Amino acid sequence: MAKGFVSAAFFLVIYLAIFVPHFASTTVPAIFVLGDSTADVGTNSMLPESLARADFPFYGIDFPNSRPTGRFSNGFNSADFLAKLVGFKRSPQPFLYLSSLKSGLRRRMFRGVNFASAASGLLDITGKTEKIVPLPEQIAQLASVISNRTAVMGQAATQAMLSESLFCISIGSNDIFGYFLTNSTVPPEQYIGTLISSYEGHLKTIYNLGARKFGIISVPPIGCCPSQRLYNATGGCFEPANAFARAFHSALDTLLTKICSELPGLKYSLGNTYEMTVNVIENPSPFNFTNVEAACCGSGRLNGEQPCTPKADLCSNRNEYLFWDLYHPTHAASKLAALTLYGGGPRFVTPINFAQLAA
Ligand SMILES: *[C@@H]1O[C@H](CO)[C@@H](O)[C@H](O)[C@H]1NC(C)=O
Ligand SMILES: *[C@@H]1O[C@H](CO)[C@@H](O)[C@H](O)[C@H]1NC(C)=O
Ligand SMILES: *[C@@H]1O[C@H](CO)[C@@H](O)[C@H](O)[C@H]1NC(C)=O
Ligand SMILES: *[C@@H]1O[C@H](CO)[C@@H](O)[C@H](O)[C@H]1NC(C)=O
Repeated sequence: MAKGFVSAAFFLVIYLAIFVPHFASTTVPAIFVLGDSTADVGTNSMLPESLARADFPFYGIDFPNSRPTGRFSNGFNSADFLAKLVGFKRSPQPFLYLSSLKSGLRRRMFRGVNFASAASGLLDITGKTEKIVPLPEQIAQLASVISNRTAVMGQAATQAMLSESLFCISIGSNDIFGYFLTNSTVPPEQYIGTLISSYEGHLKTIYNLGARKFGIISVPPIGCCPSQRLYNATGGCFEPANAFARAFHSALDTLLTKICSELPGLKYSLGNTYEMTVNVIENPSPFNFTNVEAACCGSGRLNGEQPCTPKADLCSNRNEYLFWDLYHPTHAASKLAALTLYGGGPRFVTPINFAQLAA
């Protein structure tokens, strides 16, 4: 009798663990993530021809079981930490993975999907040669998830779920890298204008699909990442790229204020990752960083001349580095960024933080 009770309770626990994972503790019904390598949790690993990938060591060395997952990090990335802060275990899985599952398991998409693909940008040409999922295609995938959900749950329930869900978007850095790589002669103001009008179109499309809560992550000081410091003889940040990042943030801030007044019910948080990162670079010790210039994994000057591979040099004190590889933050830096986006004040996230957006 007692034994029967125990095993019934046991099965109930298993049942709940499988079918309603973490439901009670989440503040939003689902989380949808779009963007580039700062949020990719394995999309590009599902693309055999993609050149922008992180599915080999030393990527993932601090992930559970030291497993490379396609994240451009030694462990988790900011999409994981943000999802965790709103009550999930980590980022939802990549669309390409979830859509490869048997139809019953695709119900997992109802708790969220990550569409982010490394090397993508706001412009269609950004990342094209790397064989990735461009942003318009990420949005088309989102539309297909929504139409399937609508077929199962009906229009009203689906729209209600979407209006409460968090839509995180982290994109723009690769477009700016592309400007410098191609030695573009387009005037910077005009280039930023093109990026922002593309962003406007994409945000409106996502809004029209039913999204209302937008967590927007701006471009960090990309001139300070190890690969860009190589363009500065002193090893300082490459100022022209940083000037672009600042101009991008300011134009994005203006755009969001505008569309917020045009689109009823839209709420957003704009994370100023430029300000957050410069704040750490200028005064690293309170954050327990001892190296904010070099990559932990890589080779050459500042470990920024070559990508992170199994043959690269690897630092031992990974928690003390801001940069994991020549472009990307460490697990520790991503965690700090997510905590600041979630709970930070108006210097770092405006007009409300991600916690207020999710509530
Ligand atoms: C949507 O449903 C169709 C038909 O059931 C299925 O073939 C397709 O793979 C589904 N798409 C997604 C994104 O789950
Ligand atoms: C851009 O300019 C640099 C330095 O002048 C040169 O090495 C590089 O090949 C140029 N790139 C392109 C795509 O023209
Ligand atoms: C190089 O870095 C220094 C700071 O160390 C900065 O003053 C200078 O503007 C930078 N130069 C370029 C070309 O980015
Ligand atoms: C820095 O390290 C100290 C000592 O290990 C710890 O108490 C503190 O919480 C750390 N600070 C941050 C911001 O992680």
